[in-house]
Amino acid sequence: MFIEETKESKAVKQFARFAHQYNAYNVIQAEVAKRLVAKLPAGKYKCIVDLGCGSGEVYKNIEKNKINFDTFIALDSSSEMLGLHPVDPMIKKITADFNRIETFKCLDVVKDETLLLSSSALQWSKSLDFVFKELSKKSVKVYFAIFTANTFKTLHQTAQIQSPIYSEETLKKSIKKYYDADFELQAYRLEFQTVRDMFHYIKRSGVSGGEKQLSYRQIKQLMNEYPLSYLEFEVLFVEATPLTL
Ligand SMILES: C[S@@+](CC[C@H](N)C(=O)[O-])C[C@H]1O[C@@H](n2cnc3c(N)ncnc32)[C@H](O)[C@@H]1O
Repeated sequence: MFIEETKESKAVKQFARFAHQYNAYNVIQAEVAKRLVAKLPAGKYKCIVDLGCGSGEVYKNIEKNKINFDTFIALDSSSEMLGLHPVDPMIKKITADFNRIETFKCLDVVKDETLLLSSSALQWSKSLDFVFKELSKKSVKVYFAIFTANTFKTLHQTAQIQSPIYSEETLKKSIKKYYDADFELQAYRLEFQTVRDMFHYIKRSGVSGGEKQLSYRQIKQLMNEYPLSYLEFEVLFVEATPLTL
């Protein structure tokens, strides 16, 4: 299955632009994917779907943890990112956008036999209710890791801008409409030598800091005023089963 993109979102474009350098900049995402996969019970899965799979952090951990499966569906809206994902006869790559209904119409999986995973991607859902509702029809068990609005919290406070991503409360509220869910909130810090390095990281990591809302002058001012030697990240880990089985 291949779904053509008519109009890529800003987020998708940013990931595509830095696809090749992405591996060097995904320190936190790599930690998150490792923690998410460590939550999976051992066993054999018929079908695993990884939404927003990127260059394959989830898959690499699945391999490392010797988790067995028959089919692995690696789905991402960026074909450049998918190009960096490992290849294997058991892996089916799908270029598709989880914000579009066509993606779910074409995602041909048996609900009872499917495990759905998503690490560091669902914060880009345009409508949480739409995405979680559609996802809840596709598998009997899900494990998600989603960045919350407390990511880059001090940076946003210093710049007096709103986080471009959802708060923990908003995520939980939407998830609970469609899933019986357990949540775990995890904070991460990434230390930097200089503020300049920090801003470079934000730009290249694909985790938007909302810095696009700022002019060049405002960014310069923010770099002068940012009070920490690290960046803050917050991730909501979700383990859930759909309310309607
Ligand atoms: C921060 S990366 C995480 C990649 C990988 N899951 C990991 O843990 O390293 C987010 C990924 O989500 C993809 N993505 C963003 N919005 C998407 C959408 N609407 N539909 C499908 N994939 C999307 C991006 O192309 C990117 O590869």
